Amino acid sequence: MRSGARRLSRAGLFFGHGTDNAHDEAAALLWSVLRLPWPVTAAAYRRRLRPAQRTAWEALLELRIATRLPAAYLTGETFFAGLPLRTDPRALVPRSPLAELIERQFRPWIDPARVRRVLDLCTGGGCIALACAHHLPLARIEGTDISRPALELARENRRRLGLSRRVRLTESDHFSALRGREYDIIVSNPPYVGARELRSLPPEYGHEPRLALASGRDGLDSVRVILQEAARHLTPGGILVVEVGNTETLVRRRWPRLPFMWLEFERGGGGVFVLTREQLTTHVR
Ligand SMILES: C[S@@+](CC[C@H](N)C(=O)[O-])C[C@H]1O[C@@H](n2cnc3c(N)ncnc32)[C@H](O)[C@@H]1O
Repeated sequence: MRSGARRLSRAGLFFGHGTDNAHDEAAALLWSVLRLPWPVTAAAYRRRLRPAQRTAWEALLELRIATRLPAAYLTGETFFAGLPLRTDPRALVPRSPLAELIERQFRPWIDPARVRRVLDLCTGGGCIALACAHHLPLARIEGTDISRPALELARENRRRLGLSRRVRLTESDHFSALRGREYDIIVSNPPYVGARELRSLPPEYGHEPRLALASGRDGLDSVRVILQEAARHLTPGGILVVEVGNTETLVRRRWPRLPFMWLEFERGGGGVFVLTREQLTTHVR
């Protein structure tokens, strides 16, 4: 693993699709070659590779370096909020800090016991919607996306996790197919990369759907629609939770009167705000 990490490090790769360093990336690739169940135990570190495994491991390292495919696309699987999810280029690689908030059942922003309906807007491969279903067992979840390939992957993940009864997946351009529907929580990791930033991203991002990243000139096209329309789809006392990543500064500047609550995460990441329905209706016309 150490020698693999050194090779990845020397190759000048970018780590930002579920790991943030060469060592964790090498571990993810190696565990997938060894087909070890998650979580990996300390005993796994004493294992030796059989010749066929060594060949597969070398090939995987080579492929990661030569193609710049994110590790999760090479292994076909990643973990999100404790759930194993199938991962391929039909949807973004799941990595949102929102996982931590979902594991906490959105506390302290809402009482989980009162949550009956959750909308995951821009669900991609379904990670947020499925994690909500797992961690909020009383709730019904709706996941929506404009991309059919992403929704296909979300349906596969829903089936594998046995969550078909409580998770509905709907094709929709933002809220357009959701007229009259209300939710206690609207959570979203929408696209938020501006045109200039998109051109400067490392090659790993080029393997992800452009639709999952790009959001107009300033990166805020999706966020604008969400802020404008979310209140209409929230129940009284309901909350809106949105990841905007490094466009946080721009969001603060564009909507100076909105009382965003910006969250902090123990496992890293940021750029996530919470607003209540009441705050939205007061401030957004
Ligand atoms: C940043 S990805 C997030 C995917 C997933 N929720 C996650 O956290 O990994 C954004 C998603 O928004 C979808 N999307 C882009 N434009 C949209 C639109 N106008 N309406 C609905 N979904 C859209 C993309 O297809 C993509 O799956």
